[in-house]
Formats: sequence, C-alpha cells, structure tokens
Amino acid sequence: MQRFSFEYESFHSMEELSNLDQAIVAAAFEAAEKLAYAPYSKFKVGAAVLLSNGEVVRGGNQENAAFPAGICAERVALSAVSASYPGIIIKSIAIAYNKNKDFNRLDERVLSPCGICRQTIMEYQNRQGKPISLFLNSETGIVYKIKDAQFLLPLTFNGDLL
Ligand code: THU
Repeated sequence: MQRFSFEYESFHSMEELSNLDQAIVAAAFEAAEKLAYAPYSKFKVGAAVLLSNGEVVRGGNQENAAFPAGICAERVALSAVSASYPGIIIKSIAIAYNKNKDFNRLDERVLSPCGICRQTIMEYQNRQGKPISLFLNSETGIVYKIKDAQFLLPLTFNGDLL
C-alpha cells in the first residue's frame, strides 16, 4: 500500500507568525475586505502573493452574474503577478475569507484553495522550480502554514507528460 502524508504548521493566531509572515497574512485579510467582489455568494476571499523582490500583490474573488465566469482570489492575484512581474519568483501565497457574519460566529475552519487554484499554483511552482508556501486562514485567526503547494495536490498532472 502507498500513502501520502505531509507536515504543516498550525497557529492559533497570526501573532505567532514571523513579522514577514504576519504581513502577508494581514494583506490577504485586507484584500478580502477591500478587493473581493462577491455579491452572489457573499463569501469574500482575499489572496496576497509575496514575491522575491519583497512586493506583495493582492487580489480578491471576482464573481459574475453568469456564475462559472467568476474567478477565485488566488488566480486574480497570480494573474496580476504575471501581468506586472513576469517570470518573478513567488515565495508564498496567503488566502483569507470573510463571510460577513456576526462577529460571535466567526468560522474557525481555514480556507483551502479549490482544485483549479491548486492546479494553477502548481503550474507557477513547476515553472519556477522552487516551492511556494501557503498560508491558509480561518476567520478567527487560526493559520496553517504549508511549505510546499505540492502537498495539496498529490500526483499533480503536469506538463512533463505532454
Ligand atoms: N473562492 C476563492 O476565491 N478562493 C477559494 O479558494 C475558494 C473559493 C471564491 C469563489 C467564489 O467567488 C466564492 O469564493 C464562493 O465559492
């Protein structure tokens, strides 16, 4: 029998992270608040991408009345990176959400990227040949730090096979 498993770090609050990691996580929360356009699902998602030059590029989900035309925050942010910094190394991506529910009912489950976003992140990772770390956030402050996007997509389909 074969088995996949991976290690990740779990923090109760973003204050437990290094200053740099905190900054990228805070940028993702801010992106959810300020950049998401989610009038249909009301599920506001923000992504913040840390680049090797220290810049942070943010994006929010962009929904559409024709639902499948919407695009997730991660891919909005990654496309913005491609447009402004083609070929640059991506160090990490933080994602956060805001359901705009009652403050007392904040959700402690972390947001994990959808399948299309995992595949997209893996394309960037394979292109650059260096791992991209992920910071997955809950609404309450719980953060998972995953050091390699590959862990979230075992047996990734990649271009080598074509
Ligand atoms: N969404 C993201 O932006 N990123 C994710 O990782 C999961 C889902 C968006 C898509 C849609 O606008 C809304 O969240 C509800 O699915």
